[in-house]
Amino acid sequence: MAKKIALSGVKPTGAPHIGNYFGAMKQFVELQDEYDFYAFIADYHALNFIQNAEEMKENIIGVLLDYLAIGLDPKKVTIFKQSDISEHTELAWIFDTITTMPYLKRAHAFKDAEAKSKEISVGTFNYPMLMAADILLYDADVVPVGSDQKQHVEYARDTAEKFNRIFGETFKLPEAMILKDVATVPGTDGQKMSKSYGNTIPLFAEPDEIKKCVMGIVTDSGDGIPKNVYAIHNLLRPASELLPIYESKSGKYKELKEMLIEDLENFIAPMREKRKKLAEDVPGALAILRAGGEKAKKTASNKMTEVRKRIGVEL
Ligand code: TYM
Repeated sequence: MAKKIALSGVKPTGAPHIGNYFGAMKQFVELQDEYDFYAFIADYHALNFIQNAEEMKENIIGVLLDYLAIGLDPKKVTIFKQSDISEHTELAWIFDTITTMPYLKRAHAFKDAEAKSKEISVGTFNYPMLMAADILLYDADVVPVGSDQKQHVEYARDTAEKFNRIFGETFKLPEAMILKDVATVPGTDGQKMSKSYGNTIPLFAEPDEIKKCVMGIVTDSGDGIPKNVYAIHNLLRPASELLPIYESKSGKYKELKEMLIEDLENFIAPMREKRKKLAEDVPGALAILRAGGEKAKKTASNKMTEVRKRIGVEL
C-alpha cells in the first residue's frame, strides 16, 4: 500500500529556535519512516522578509544543514527548495484568480501587519496562496506545523475545495497535524517564541548563548514555581519528573535555571556538533538539495499538467 504523504516547510529567515523544533521540525523526523515526506525550504516566502542576496543564500544553506542535523534522512525524505520548482509560483497565480481579496484580508498574518501599520507587500498579502500551492501540488495528506500555521493550512483546504468545485476533482484536501502540548512553544518572556519578538532560544545555540537566554527568562511566579522557566523545561522533561523538582526547589530560581541550562546543553550539543560537521561539506549538502529538487520537480510537473488540462490552457 502506498504511504500517505506529509509535507512541511521552514522559511530561511535566520537561525531556527526550539519553538520551530518542538512545534514542527521534530515531527518531521518522527514521521519520515511512516510517510512519504517532503521537507522544503520556503525561500520565496522568505523573500518577503530577506531582501539581500548574501543573507538569503546563507539562510537557505542554513535550513538545509538544520534539516540534516536534526536527523532527516535524504534517503527517506525529499528535501528541496521552493524556488527550484517553478510550479509553486505558477499554481499560486492560478489560485489568485479564484480567490477574493476579502477572504485573504482575514489572514492573521495580514491583519497583524496591518495592525502594526506596516507597508504590506503583495507577496505578504498572497502568502497563503503560495502556501496552498506548496501543499496541494504534492497531494499532501498531512501538514505537520505549529499552531500559528493552522489558518494557512485551512486556506489550502478551502482553496482545494474551491478549485475542485469549479474545475473538477483535482486536489486532495490536506489536514494540519499539530501536537497539542507544543502547538505554541513559549519564548523567554512567556509570549509565543518568535524571531520577531527577540525571545528565542536558538536550536543550535552555543553554551554561552544558552546561558544568556536562560538567565534572561522572565521569572514570573505566584506560587514559587517560575512559570516561564518551567514551560521551557517541560519541553525536555515530563511533568511527572519536573514538578517534584520544582516544588522542592520552590523560589530557588537561580538553581532551577542552572538545571535548565544543563538540560538544554545536553539536548542541543549532539545536534550542534553534527551540524558543524555537516557545515564542513556544503557541496555535499547542496547535492542532496539538487537530488531532492529533481524528484519534487517530477511530482509537481505531473500535477501541473493535470491542472493545466483542467483549466483549459493545455491544447
Ligand atoms: P516558519 O518558518 O515561520 O516556522 C517553521 C515551523 O515552526 C513552527 N513554529 C512554532 N511552533 C510552535 N511554537 C512556536 N513558538 C513556533 N514558532 C514557529 C511553525 O508553525 C512552522 O511549522 N509559512 C510557514 C512555512 C511554509 C510552510 C509551507 C509550512 C511555507 N509553505 C507549506 C507548511 C506547509 C512558516 O512561515 O513557517
